[in-house]
Amino acid sequence: MRFARAVTDCRAVRMIGIVQEAPRGKDAKMFADIIRVKDGLDAGQLIAAIDTQRKKYGGLHQIVGVLEPLQVPLAEVRKHFKLPGTDPVTADLFRDKARMKNALRAAGLPCARHKLIHRWADAEAFVKEVGLPIVLKPPAGAGCKATWRIRSVEDLKSAIDTVNPSVDRPTLAEEFLRGQEYCYDTVTVGGKVLFENVSRYYPGPLEVTENPWIQWAVVLPKTIGPEFNDARKIGRATIAALGLKTGFTHMEWFRREDGSIAIGEIAARPPGANFVKMMSYAHDADMFRAWARAVIDDEFDGPLKRKFSVGCAYLRGIGHGRVVRVRGVAEANKRVGSVVVESKLPRIGAPKSDHYEGDGFVIVRHEDTEVVKKAITILIETIKVDYA
Ligand SMILES: Nc1ncnc2c1ncn2[C@@H]1O[C@H](COP(=O)(O)OP(=O)(O)O)[C@@H](O)[C@H]1O
Ligand SMILES: [Mg+2]
Repeated sequence: MRFARAVTDCRAVRMIGIVQEAPRGKDAKMFADIIRVKDGLDAGQLIAAIDTQRKKYGGLHQIVGVLEPLQVPLAEVRKHFKLPGTDPVTADLFRDKARMKNALRAAGLPCARHKLIHRWADAEAFVKEVGLPIVLKPPAGAGCKATWRIRSVEDLKSAIDTVNPSVDRPTLAEEFLRGQEYCYDTVTVGGKVLFENVSRYYPGPLEVTENPWIQWAVVLPKTIGPEFNDARKIGRATIAALGLKTGFTHMEWFRREDGSIAIGEIAARPPGANFVKMMSYAHDADMFRAWARAVIDDEFDGPLKRKFSVGCAYLRGIGHGRVVRVRGVAEANKRVGSVVVESKLPRIGAPKSDHYEGDGFVIVRHEDTEVVKKAITILIETIKVDYA
């Protein structure tokens, strides 16, 4: 809804919502009209819904949305109505991890070796080629769902049994990248990168998913120094290679042990997990608005000065069931409360989240990156979530 609100703040916008679930209260009021569809990810239903309203509003000028699985359907709707914005071929290159990697490698950009797996023999051959471990994932997945580190042939057998891939429904195998995981985000307008952010994950999303009790963190350093020049160059080249003209991008990349970089993946949308908020805090700017200005107006109100380091601790805990207690909050508050800018504590009684974002979060900021890192460590070590 914060993205939707940012759209309404652009000049001369009348926003019509196409929704699966109707927004309520204040949220509903920002839409000039609301059209319900059964499946918001179905391009055919989106097109039909728009058709019913076209006479009333004289056609639409833009269609925008932020969800990862929505990017290709939106591009198809644009193509159908001849609207400006990202086209289906480009959107698909940012969605389909196999095609993405083919395009990156063709452009000389570093990424994991990969293979689409149609049958057991493909998996066996791939492991012979790259060795173990490997990663198995859906070719167009998101949020680390159904993504597994495969450490042994037995793991591989049971994973292939479970996924049961076919020529029509292949799964994706990738060489396992070792190193530290980061992201590189941009606001790109007309093919030009006008805003850049680098954040580091402690630890990477797969390790976080494998260990549902880990309280993890993301840190945006105060300065994006020369140590990130190579990542920025590769990030810009990635956007150019895949052909995105305008929008927010979110790339994940690895710093390998030998210092080299490998691109994990890139998405043509704003990142989730509070990253947009964190970028806003780091620059004292509204990055939701920056997204809307880019996709609606082809504009960026910058350059923005980076003023703070920002970190987010994601609150989770050992066990299953519902949240019954959150311990250590008063102590954490005493020790680092002065640098906390926003938090959401796990709600007592809420079922444990199955997403790596966890059940709550705390965002901190300070001019000094080391202070942020220390505060994050204290938060993670002090706050404990219990489930039963
Ligand atoms: N080839 C790989 N080597 C090492 N880790 C990987 C690899 N591919 C994915 N991962 C881990 O799994 C996570 C999710 O995979 P990713 O390709 O980013 O898909 P998603 O769209 O679900 O985010 C990554 O953030 C990373 O931690
Ligand atoms: Mg990812």
